[in-house]
Amino acid sequence: MKINKGFKAWNSPYLFQEMEDIIASFSQEARREIISLGIGDPDLPTPAGIRSAMQTEHRNCYHGYPSVQGRQDLREAIAAYYRSRFNVKLSPDEILIGLGAKTDLFDLCTVFANPGDYAALLDPAYPVYCDSLSYRGQNIHFLPGTDANGYMPELDVSKMANGDLALIYMCYPNNPTGAMATPDYLQTMIGHAKNLGAMVVFDIAYADFTPGNLDSRAFSIFSLPGSEATGIEIGSFSKPFSMTGDRISWVVIRNPEAREYWKRYRSNRDSGASNYDQAGALAALTRDDVKAQVRENMDIYGKRVKTLMDGLTALGWPCSGLDNTPYAWIRSPIPDSREVAGRILKEARVMVTPGVGFGPGGEGYIRATIFQPENRLAEAVERIGAMDFRV
Ligand code: MLT
Repeated sequence: MKINKGFKAWNSPYLFQEMEDIIASFSQEARREIISLGIGDPDLPTPAGIRSAMQTEHRNCYHGYPSVQGRQDLREAIAAYYRSRFNVKLSPDEILIGLGAKTDLFDLCTVFANPGDYAALLDPAYPVYCDSLSYRGQNIHFLPGTDANGYMPELDVSKMANGDLALIYMCYPNNPTGAMATPDYLQTMIGHAKNLGAMVVFDIAYADFTPGNLDSRAFSIFSLPGSEATGIEIGSFSKPFSMTGDRISWVVIRNPEAREYWKRYRSNRDSGASNYDQAGALAALTRDDVKAQVRENMDIYGKRVKTLMDGLTALGWPCSGLDNTPYAWIRSPIPDSREVAGRILKEARVMVTPGVGFGPGGEGYIRATIFQPENRLAEAVERIGAMDFRV
């Protein structure tokens, strides 16, 4: 058997699979006790308006191939969303409906980079960027995000001047840190991309995840001048609408040549998102009852943020990130984040994610979600508080 050499670049399974495997190795009884603050999988139900739109479509529609680019009505709804949400005027033709942001993100470097090329990567970040690049034999230039630089690291263009830089990956609001960038920072990256012949991948999967319905500072890369030629923006229905299992996303590419390549790739790779998933996504953007339900969910998440933040602060564990994302980014009491996450799981039966799983810059941190009811979050904090981390 021959195996793609790309596997050699992965020395561990996908971060969240690794965590699932660890849980699976526990006895059934121990598993029942675990409070999972691991993967970012919303626990509040998918709004009823989305589910009924999907059910109706599933019952009534012909289950044939959908359009790879996506339904016209859904792309129009996304264009209308961009107008009202970001003050950005898009043509529906510039939007492609995808099979989940993870899938889109994993494949962009197949189309927009070659083996041996470089990608600049905000660190820490969603592990799929890094894994997708290393699998294709592409090189990663980490941009270390820290408290000191506000998670807006500089790109040293002198190291990138030989034409090898293909992609710059940015994600704000950021998974896992919850950090937000300024438009000026992204503007600088657009300038670098233009000068170096690269594209900027901008992941806005968390733009509408606003616990407590607080005002969001999220923006679209296409609100910034010069982005038309170099921007690739990825949006997701997963987190704000509790649709992680439906696998539906969008990609905006305004550069006609780049869009044509992505479309060509997509039409070979898959056959588009199912018509019923697209009907659910359309309901998510257009129905008032869905909007009301999302606001209610965000109110609930807001209360959980308070419970988790207050609890961790009382324990003396500094944390941030929950303004813009479902993730608390917590300074770990000992530097080895895998060790601390392992101990929390074993001793407190609470699953958190080791920061190093998001890149070298995540070492010394752990990530916890708010996707558990308030009483379970309070219990998780209490259990962690009962542990002794003194060395
Ligand atoms: C996360 O928890 O960071 C991700 O959303 C999980 C995933 O997409 O695999």
